[in-house]
Amino acid sequence: EKILFIASECTPFVKTGGLADVVGSLPQVLNQKETTEVRVVLPLYQEIRENWSDDLENVHSFPVSVGWRNQEATLYQLTYQGVVYYFIENEYYFTRRGLYGYYDDGERFVFFCQAVIEALSILPFQPNILHGHDWQAGLAMAFAKIQKPIEHLRTVFTIHNIKYQGIMPLDVYHDLFHLPDGHISGLEWNGLLNCMKAGLFHADKITTVSPSYAKEITTPYFGEGLYPIISEREEDVAGIVNGINVDDYNPQTDPHIPYPYSNIEENKNKTIIQEKLGLPVNSKKPLYVTITRLVEQKGLHLIQAIIDEFLQEDVQFVLLGTGDSEFEDYFYHAAERNNDKLVAYLGFDEALARQLYAAADFFVMPSLFEPCGLSQLISLQYKTIPIVRETGGLKDTIRPYNEYTKEGNGFSFTNYNAHDLLHVLQYSLQIFHDQEHWSTILKNIDEGDSYSWTESAKSYHTLYQDML
Ligand code: GLC
Repeated sequence: EKILFIASECTPFVKTGGLADVVGSLPQVLNQKETTEVRVVLPLYQEIRENWSDDLENVHSFPVSVGWRNQEATLYQLTYQGVVYYFIENEYYFTRRGLYGYYDDGERFVFFCQAVIEALSILPFQPNILHGHDWQAGLAMAFAKIQKPIEHLRTVFTIHNIKYQGIMPLDVYHDLFHLPDGHISGLEWNGLLNCMKAGLFHADKITTVSPSYAKEITTPYFGEGLYPIISEREEDVAGIVNGINVDDYNPQTDPHIPYPYSNIEENKNKTIIQEKLGLPVNSKKPLYVTITRLVEQKGLHLIQAIIDEFLQEDVQFVLLGTGDSEFEDYFYHAAERNNDKLVAYLGFDEALARQLYAAADFFVMPSLFEPCGLSQLISLQYKTIPIVRETGGLKDTIRPYNEYTKEGNGFSFTNYNAHDLLHVLQYSLQIFHDQEHWSTILKNIDEGDSYSWTESAKSYHTLYQDML
């Protein structure tokens, strides 16, 4: 099979969230199978132009219409770790700071999706499957169906987060599109133009990033208004849990961590981080961390509600991330009140993130919803015990420790309730001080699934094969 991934972010080029990690690591693994070749197409953001200019090769320029606008797209390409990446350049839409957040984001991705479709006739690579990721690629699914740029082209659309949909007022339809009559309804939802809906409606197959989330989004609570579409297409929806690149996230070789380790007993990274962050240095103190975008999805309201109470225990807590000012302000002040126990590092710092995974005893992730979640998987790699809420991918990857059967690789709670979180935090602390249970959980993590891509890549291969 020849598959073209269409996405708006991808490591190592640009990243705002887990989507970039998935798009940046899955193709390599899929390509290990002889008969499969995956390539990736992305917008050429300013950031990529600046950082990768020496590697980018100009392929071709071609016209793209966005409604009445005659735009030009220039296609660039580079090969990184064996995978071919294409980039679509347009000065007007993509020479800006950052990735998203502009008033015309909708128009920018109408352009991007249309440009991807036009590029198919000039690419030195003829895909038989287009695989779009999240709303930014949704319209490419629609254009592929409606405009039929290539014979027998099939499409897969993956939902990484159904909350973000790419919504525009409906009256831009005549301004931004020129499709044959009769296609508005496939792009419209609740009186608005909706790129996520366009993808869900037109793609041949739909996937999402965990089996539990695949079920959840058929319900009003998780479906963010689109649950009727998902339910209608239930037979075409599959949940395939994400993996992580276990060569990259490896505490034995991670260049960011001061003391590489394989055995947790030899882990000396905690005191280094305590010193660096100005916490009392003591390797025996239990260290809890949260590394996240500071948005409601990640359960920060629950942490807010109980943090002062939890910090009455003899523990340390570090929060790393940026995001909504509501949370930044709250944790900034909470850290001031609890300065020998809580550090709020309000920034984005990949090296520090990895040092924290390496140093911490627990990773706290009480998400309101979580399509898959990668941090809990990274935590398992660094032998940091995840404490999660049972939702989406968290529920599919973390099994709560059971003292009687001695099974489980973390801690969890069910209801979105702050005191349930507090209770499980306190319970984790009790287990921390119990040598026998503690070692059992760590042993379970060692012997359990590593969540490399191997299994999930097989599921994608099967999906692709069944489609062709
Ligand atoms: C989104 C989801 C997250 C998932 C990631 C990659 O960021 O919120 O749960 O792990 O996409 O699929």
